[in-house]
Amino acid sequence: MSKDTTTAVPGTGDALENLSTESRKFAPSAEFAANAIVKASEYADAEADRPAFWGRQAREMLTWSKDFTKTLDWTNPPFATWFEDGEINAAYNALDRHVEAGNGDRVAIYFEGEPGDTRTYTYAQLTEEVKKAANAFEALGLVKGDRVAVYLPMIPEAVITLLACARIGAVHSVVFGGFSAEALRSRIDDAQAKLVVTADGTFRRGKPSSLKPAVDEALSAAGHTVENVVVVKRNGQDVDWVQGRDLWWADTVGAASAEHTAVGHAAEHPLFILYTSGTTGKPKGILHTTGGYLTQTAYTHKAVFDLHPETDVYWCTADVGWVTGHSYVTYAPLINGATQVIYEGTPDSPHQGRFWEIVQKYKVSILYTAPTAIRTFMKWGEDIPAKYDLSSIRLLGSVGEPINPEAWMWYRRVIGGNNAPIVDTWWQTETGAIMIAPLPGVTSTKPGSAQVPMPGIAVDVVDELGASVAHGHGGYLVIREPWPAMLRGIWGDNERYKDTYWARFDDMYFAGDGAKWDEDGDVWLLGRVDDVMNVSGHRLSTTEIESALVSHPSVAEAAVVGAADETTGQAVVAFVILRGSAVEDPDIVATLRNHVGHEIGPIAKPKTILVVPELPKTRSGKIMRRLLKDVAEGRDAGDSSTLADNTVMNQIAESLRA
Ligand code: WTA
Repeated sequence: MSKDTTTAVPGTGDALENLSTESRKFAPSAEFAANAIVKASEYADAEADRPAFWGRQAREMLTWSKDFTKTLDWTNPPFATWFEDGEINAAYNALDRHVEAGNGDRVAIYFEGEPGDTRTYTYAQLTEEVKKAANAFEALGLVKGDRVAVYLPMIPEAVITLLACARIGAVHSVVFGGFSAEALRSRIDDAQAKLVVTADGTFRRGKPSSLKPAVDEALSAAGHTVENVVVVKRNGQDVDWVQGRDLWWADTVGAASAEHTAVGHAAEHPLFILYTSGTTGKPKGILHTTGGYLTQTAYTHKAVFDLHPETDVYWCTADVGWVTGHSYVTYAPLINGATQVIYEGTPDSPHQGRFWEIVQKYKVSILYTAPTAIRTFMKWGEDIPAKYDLSSIRLLGSVGEPINPEAWMWYRRVIGGNNAPIVDTWWQTETGAIMIAPLPGVTSTKPGSAQVPMPGIAVDVVDELGASVAHGHGGYLVIREPWPAMLRGIWGDNERYKDTYWARFDDMYFAGDGAKWDEDGDVWLLGRVDDVMNVSGHRLSTTEIESALVSHPSVAEAAVVGAADETTGQAVVAFVILRGSAVEDPDIVATLRNHVGHEIGPIAKPKTILVVPELPKTRSGKIMRRLLKDVAEGRDAGDSSTLADNTVMNQIAESLRA
């Protein structure tokens, strides 16, 4: 459970050296460059005066109900305010104003359900739905500042719920449907949520998959703050019902008035909380506020995806349970008046061509997905996408983890027709919006590198002491200046906010990622340098899974590492020391996997659990995860000279051979 602090400076090892010597480059076509919305001059414009640049974006991209006179206030670092005296309504910006501008008939959402059911919402229709939900939530007693927990599948009601909360100034806290009742309850409690919005369930690979039972279980013990649970009927499964607490969406939202006037909220009014894994066992409630967040998400969405809202069809495959589903499904595309696709299911349901069938059907022109998905498609074979017409695609995006050059090249050739630019976008739940990415009409892209900080963003790579490293060198990724969409804190824990992000280096935000500048000055992301793992682009904490394991009576000690995995980037590998007779239990591994599933959620279940007699520890009792990682990745363990007992690695090797 203790931390191994003996990590090497990232980018100095040999494994990644070859990555950043990648010399292939792909310039945008003359046609793409000529029609691109954002040109090269934007970098210099932003550099001249960053806050002023963001102030211009805020006014150009958004409609304010009260204009601001201040841009950035950084007099009390690390607590920033942006556009502080301005007032704005996020839902009005995403919806009403497009209708008022005469674009009410434009499609906002093409929804494709996993079983093949479809729904289309124009901007006028979506506005109406959000107004009804806003009225229904207010009728339940929600007022500005109240928190709403959202535990929904990827269906239009998720977007409608988030925007309805934003409209009335309630603060949404989405909990990914893959998290357990336990995890849901701790998030409900931490945010003191008054309302939960959920569904009976969803569909997963052709079968119904339930959600409401987890909400019931989460609320079964007294002491919570939830007054009502609004339930969307999605898969028709039978559900238990608590009279007086539970309400069907159709009876509440469906019956509400479609008249609702949006009022402006202060720019720094909280918009949402989103829990994410950190280096300790307890998830952090990342807090985002309104004006700055909307400014940077909208600007980056336009600039990075070169969005032409009248002609593009945009599809971001992220679930609303993650930050990408907030920034680049719920907020930015609608703020920018885009037409987007939302898909409920998995890429292999009912067949492995489902994504490409959707691209063909809706003529998707911009596709934004994750490296894990791309590597899975590679494994399935290129004859599958070859069966579909993908000629509508003109831009491809990647997010969530480093994309290896091989997957990048495959994505470009097989999905992008050797022509569509690829934008590899680096950012985090904490940054709120894209921070590093090529500009598709400007940057010559390089397989595997996210390349350049966005205009107005001050990224650097520094050494142990916080000094910038030269081109060709590696170190720690930091952000030197505040940015509009930055987190405003950790919900209820200002100290943790300061300690986690601002204490490692003076006056700089430490992202937790290793990075390297190549000789051209492009950034290469080298993965996390802390105890956070990235499995299929989902953030998981080693410590959190260790805590879950040791909470089982059969486990004496546990250590978890993220081991390299060809498809998922990393996979969770756990080393456990069992207690007493558990050693003889033939089902212990399955039992422990399910226990983690129950404590945190199915996504956190270790891929492999290895039962060992000992764990490698330093003399001060810290577990040396580096050595376990060597074992998990099938290498000879590296230098073990600092171990308290240097026979431990042999004991482990022996027990795994047995
Ligand atoms: C990783 C997801 C390399 C990184 C938006 C970061 C990436 C963590 C990339 C944040 C990328 C995200 N290249 N690594 N393009 N994008 N990451 O909070 O380690 O779920 O710190 O936000 O994902 O994950 P989060």
